[in-house]
Amino acid sequence: MNSFTFYNPTQLVFGKDSIEKLPQMISQFTEGKKILVTYGGGSIKKSGLHTKIMNLLADYEVYEFGGIEPNPRLSTVKKAVAIVKEKEIDFILAVGGGSVIDGTKLISAASKLDNDPWDIVTRKVTPTAVVPFGTILTISATGSEMNSGSVITNWETNEKLGWGSPLVFPKFSLLNPEILYTLPENQTVNGIVDSMSHLIEQYFNEADNSAIGDAMIAGVMKQIMSAGRTALSQPDNYEARETLMLGATVALNGFMRMGYNGDWATHNLEHAVSAVHDIAHGAGLAILFPAWMKYVSQHQPARFAQFAEDVFDVDQNLSESEKVEAGIKGLEDYWQSIGAPSRLSDFEITAEDFETFADKTLFNGPFGNFYQLDKEAVMEIYKLAE
Ligand code: NZQ
Ligand code: ZN
Repeated sequence: MNSFTFYNPTQLVFGKDSIEKLPQMISQFTEGKKILVTYGGGSIKKSGLHTKIMNLLADYEVYEFGGIEPNPRLSTVKKAVAIVKEKEIDFILAVGGGSVIDGTKLISAASKLDNDPWDIVTRKVTPTAVVPFGTILTISATGSEMNSGSVITNWETNEKLGWGSPLVFPKFSLLNPEILYTLPENQTVNGIVDSMSHLIEQYFNEADNSAIGDAMIAGVMKQIMSAGRTALSQPDNYEARETLMLGATVALNGFMRMGYNGDWATHNLEHAVSAVHDIAHGAGLAILFPAWMKYVSQHQPARFAQFAEDVFDVDQNLSESEKVEAGIKGLEDYWQSIGAPSRLSDFEITAEDFETFADKTLFNGPFGNFYQLDKEAVMEIYKLAE
């Protein structure tokens, strides 16, 4: 393994009573009274969560910023930054999924600078201070509630880029699995696919030894798959939602990548697609991961055979190539069984765009820590996903 330091300061508050702890959690981080509540397109109003939060914040001076879109946009972040500066907000509360939380991370950092927020995303400037923020998570998928990463779309340039800073770990995240009951079925599916994809990215890593990570990843992945089936047939099954929610958080809070980075090529391949077509991140991953696996397994079959054994318990007596095939098929079959898309053509995305996607992915040169992809490889993978 590589040498590493594990650091994660986010206080994770989990369970049916977690949201009621909001006032006491905020008071740990500010004595100020001005709170900005950020949220998405309105699901929190339909579910009653908005009213509940406003009641809990009765002693605060509350401002609201709704309308952060899925695949959060730079233009939206800029509007919120203006409010934080004008009202001299003391604390931000993000209520939503990865999009609201990622947008809020950039709002939090950009509000302390005079630069365009995009300068942070493109690493022209490094944040040195932030407006503190916490989250109430409403969809389990990205792990953004307990990590320091954020992905922002610049719709003017069709760029979707990730950035991060240790300063943008949420101060706390409140997770009540009951909140997931109102998720539309396709969003539950996207969340299952995204959290599994984070585990797969880290399973295919650059370390010589990742025995502890392998065991954790395979174990968590099996539990997500099983709980995913249950949650889709019984949306208000508490235990299944509990497993999905904690599973998605630990999948990307640093636990699973101690001693290595993981591959992360497929996330790059996906972000290039959703930068142009605005499809859900989980949907893009469901299409691209099997394609990446089919391509890379031709070059590095041993790890794929081990994946099949660890995650899909394939017969030990199969040949290496049979194991590789069974592992990839196991993943494809599971995703198709829960209704995830499997082809770019499902979204009417055609080969015409592949060159554009490929150029975006290669912005910083060849990529992928487990297996490095060049332009030819990238084009081949998009073709496999056509
Ligand atoms: O906007 P509202 O009305 O709230 O509706 C949302 C949104 O339409 C809806 N929703 C969320 N909770 C709900 C609900 N509907 C009913 N009941 C609830 N309880 O779900 C839709 C999707 O929400 P979004 O936040 O976009 O989903 P997700 O958490 O999957 O976030 C995706 C974004 O995160 C980025 C992705 O690229 C994408 O931009 N990622 C962030 C990462 C990170 N920060 O670590 C890593 C990931 O790999 C990913 O790239
Ligand atoms: Zn992801």
